[in-house]
Amino acid sequence: MYSSWVNVMGSTVIFGADGYIGWPLAIHLGNTRNDKIILVDNLCTRRLVKSVKSDTLVPIKSMKERLAAYGKATGRNNLTFIEADARDPKSVDKVIAKYKPETVVHLAQQRSAPFSMVDQEHVLYTELNNIATNLNIVFSMVRHVPDAHLLKMGSMGEYGTPGIEIAEGDLEVERKGKKAKVMFPRTGQSWYHLSKIFDTYNVAFANRIYDMRATDVMQGVVYGTRIDEITNGALATRFDFDSIWGTVINKYVVQAVLLNKLLIYGKGKQTRGFLSLYDSVNCLTLLHDNPPENGANRVVNQIDEIFDTLQLAEKVQAIGREFGIEAEFEYVENPRVEREEHVYEVEHRILPSLGFRREKKIEDVIREIFQAVIENRKRAATMKKLVYPTVYWRTATQLSVKEFSLPKSIVNMKSK
Ligand SMILES: NC(=O)c1ccc[n+]([C@@H]2O[C@H](COP(=O)([O-])OP(=O)(O)OC[C@H]3O[C@@H](n4cnc5c(N)ncnc54)[C@H](O)[C@@H]3O)[C@@H](O)[C@H]2O)c1
Repeated sequence: MYSSWVNVMGSTVIFGADGYIGWPLAIHLGNTRNDKIILVDNLCTRRLVKSVKSDTLVPIKSMKERLAAYGKATGRNNLTFIEADARDPKSVDKVIAKYKPETVVHLAQQRSAPFSMVDQEHVLYTELNNIATNLNIVFSMVRHVPDAHLLKMGSMGEYGTPGIEIAEGDLEVERKGKKAKVMFPRTGQSWYHLSKIFDTYNVAFANRIYDMRATDVMQGVVYGTRIDEITNGALATRFDFDSIWGTVINKYVVQAVLLNKLLIYGKGKQTRGFLSLYDSVNCLTLLHDNPPENGANRVVNQIDEIFDTLQLAEKVQAIGREFGIEAEFEYVENPRVEREEHVYEVEHRILPSLGFRREKKIEDVIREIFQAVIENRKRAATMKKLVYPTVYWRTATQLSVKEFSLPKSIVNMKSK
């Protein structure tokens, strides 16, 4: 791994540190940096995934057990966990005022597009949660650490599929003989993506009026089960595979193992940018170590390779055969409303210019996913029916759909 030891003492706060990306990032930064890392999370992803009767396929430990396992594996005690809801301005303020971090990583979001499309209640939950966590972090940073670096996770999905190359940063436009630089258009394709677009505009505004120093990461779809620091089961990160919470490559492997099928949405020509969990953590580490200038808002497109979903299915099918698994393609109605055939080109020069190189080939990471899924095959079999899509973009306009109804404790805006 190129993210070598950096001998500086400082502190980093990670909001959303219990999550799929947050936990590996926390242990990687903790293990390779001398920083004190403050992990903040309200553990809502654990509850929300259970609210659709699913669960992480790879079992995960409580935060207390995770921290003990990290201490044992690394001999370090530089991680501190605080259970707090980032929708609550006072909770966020307390953390930022106390630790005065140099970097704040913001991953604390409801991050499933299908979950945001279930019904009106889920739309409200997603947008209120995501916009509130982002604004609370922005305001606390402006008050207590105005020169600190906000490393915020957006999504490549904010851009949609615009039909031209997606610029990294502003777009130069010319109209009636005059030229201007404008934010690249964002036409996200779910209520979740819309919430991320609001966040992007809110951070850009905070940059304009308070000179907030920020990196806004437009991240592609992440796949994989591990990074080097995950050396045993107690350090595992969550792995979601159902049709609501899983991402495409992770879902395909589970479908292949459980059903000997690969569910292709529509024609399978939807094209996106992908990166492995290793690379997601490495990219965030590089951006953490290389903040933008004071007062700058840097937009980074964080992807590695571009594939359509059929190409990915072919890869998973071929690697499945190495494990004795023969999976057929099953074409299903695309539950999403999206262009199925389109141009997809992305400018991504900032991370390579900072030294980013892919850590593992996609095929090797898919092999690791197969191993993890096969090890947990029995657990997966109990949740088999969750792989078929159940949330359809056009029809999910109900006020509430009984089987997905959220427990009151989850919709309640007050933090516990
Ligand atoms: N996984 C991907 O493929 C992917 C792709 C693009 C962007 N992203 C973005 O990356 C970030 C992390 O995603 P992830 O896949 O690790 O998701 P995740 O759901 O596993 O992690 C998010 C974490 O934030 C926490 N959280 C949410 N709301 C909170 C709140 N109000 N207060 C405190 N904690 C809260 C959750 O409990 C969870 O642990 C998100 O912003 C997501 O939108 C993810």
